[in-house]
Amino acid sequence: MSDAVDIEVLIDQARTAVAAAGSTEEISQVAVSFTGKKSPVAEAHRGLGALDPEARKELGRLLHTARTTIEELIEQRRTEISFDELSREMVASKIDLSEFVPGSLTAPSSRGHLHLVSQTRDALEDVFVGMGFEVAEGPEIETDWFNFGALNIPPAHPARGMWDTFYLSLGEPETTLLRTHTSPVQIHLMEEAVLGGGLPIHAVMPGRCYRRDTPDARHLPVFHQIEGLVVDKGITFADLAGTIEVFTTAYFGPDIHSRLRPAYFPFTEPSAEFEVTCTICHGDGCRTCSQTGWIELGGCGMVDPAVFDAVGIDSDEWTGFAFGFGIDRCAQMRHQIADMRALIENDIRFLRQF
Ligand code: PHE
Repeated sequence: MSDAVDIEVLIDQARTAVAAAGSTEEISQVAVSFTGKKSPVAEAHRGLGALDPEARKELGRLLHTARTTIEELIEQRRTEISFDELSREMVASKIDLSEFVPGSLTAPSSRGHLHLVSQTRDALEDVFVGMGFEVAEGPEIETDWFNFGALNIPPAHPARGMWDTFYLSLGEPETTLLRTHTSPVQIHLMEEAVLGGGLPIHAVMPGRCYRRDTPDARHLPVFHQIEGLVVDKGITFADLAGTIEVFTTAYFGPDIHSRLRPAYFPFTEPSAEFEVTCTICHGDGCRTCSQTGWIELGGCGMVDPAVFDAVGIDSDEWTGFAFGFGIDRCAQMRHQIADMRALIENDIRFLRQF
């Protein structure tokens, strides 16, 4: 290792060894033998001290060039190798997520379908659209005003106990919440009407609601309601009762009927609970309906003038009714599902029945 020819040879040898290296380990070995402490370059470097200044300078320069050239070759190859190794690893670890469902080749109907709750919402919307209602939606996060205040439920009103509320840590305490019912969408629609959309309103509003309830056979803390609101001239309680009965027979079938029982809601006056014939015993009385023959579906009533005042609608000119009931409860009744929790367990054997 004392002249330029040796250096050329050395670089050539390194080039060949680098090209032959096929793995990270091999390229590291090449690096050790060509640039490591015991490499010819390092040895030649150690011998520099014995040379006279002129020769030392000359050889030092050559060794430096040799080292940088070899290092560059090695780095380049190292990058190529790690890229190859990564691509191989990615191909090897690829997961095949396509599931072979027995019979799927001959039965294309095994494609899957909407969840029962979504199907139920669609079916309910269809019934109401057929009766002349429009479909509207509102946000799931509400301010206290929309969920309670505008609905004639002032702060600290005892009626707030009817809804166990999830509050959000946003702004002042207890000012933002997950809506406990779809009734706040009534307020949005009436405000829009007052701001320019105009009256009348004939709308249904389906959506997700939240309450701090412990799940059981007939309750879920996250559930779905469909709200109805009519604001027009000369609307009476008879219109409400008729609408509920037409809906009940249209959705559940001709042998299922509705009845209204006096109840209290701050935003309707008078208010009622509406019940439908128990779909399990068809009115004879059974365990599910506690021997009454009826199942409670939701609440309803005539829009309270205080609600019209809150949104700026003249209650001498306009009257209206509202109702709200559980979509999950409808699915449960129509399909005789003993325990509502089955709707959120995602057991495919349960879901594929519908
Ligand atoms: N929002 C009420 C509830 O969830 C139901 C309801 C709606 C009652 C509309 C009357 C009118 O409990």
